[in-house]
Amino acid sequence: MTVNGAAYCREAFGLTILKNSHKDIRRLRQQTGAATIHGNKFWKSTFLLMDYLLETPPKKRLKVLEVGCGWGLGGIFCAKTFAARVTALDADASVFAFLQHHADINGVKVETWRSRYEKVTRAHLSEFDMLIGADICFWDSMVDPLYNLVRRAKQAGVGRVVLSDPGRPTFGKVAQRCIDKLDADYQMWHVAAPHNTSGLVLEV
Ligand SMILES: C[S@@+](CC[C@H](N)C(=O)[O-])C[C@H]1O[C@@H](n2cnc3c(N)ncnc32)[C@H](O)[C@@H]1O
Repeated sequence: MTVNGAAYCREAFGLTILKNSHKDIRRLRQQTGAATIHGNKFWKSTFLLMDYLLETPPKKRLKVLEVGCGWGLGGIFCAKTFAARVTALDADASVFAFLQHHADINGVKVETWRSRYEKVTRAHLSEFDMLIGADICFWDSMVDPLYNLVRRAKQAGVGRVVLSDPGRPTFGKVAQRCIDKLDADYQMWHVAAPHNTSGLVLEV
């Protein structure tokens, strides 16, 4: 098996995504150390986001902010597929080397921004057309900050907020609040084989 074989990377939604077993990922991990808030791999609910955005495509060249980006494949997908101008935000700086490597191998450029999403102000958000995120609400302590971020984004005039999740109760709480207070749409989403991913997509 070569390092480009299926044991080491996957091809999906027009992107090459390296697995933890890939030699480049092992090298980067030695250089950066361990991720601290679960940004240690590509999480599959990003496939829900990609598939949903193909069904409901944004205009080309929008300014997109991906929050809790981890390896950043959601934003990289938007840059590659929709020519989006992407900024990828994460609280954990160790994820950015993995993001930059994926941006390089997929032939796109993405800006990075180290910040907690709690610290992103309405003034910051007003610079973006769309906010995206995948699997960013997995602790109870994240429910209020994520809902507040979505609300600030809408107050700032962000046209679309699209979030995906494998179906955690914490994300369900955010979604219900967005439905009750921000007129959001929330639906089950399934990505068929070979990616086989199910979960939820919230659009506000
Ligand atoms: C489960 S990972 C998901 C990563 C990526 N979105 C994906 O689907 O592959 C959660 C990511 O959110 C980041 N994160 C967690 N809490 C955060 C916060 N308050 N502000 C910004 N990033 C945060 C973590 O560092 C991690 O990279």
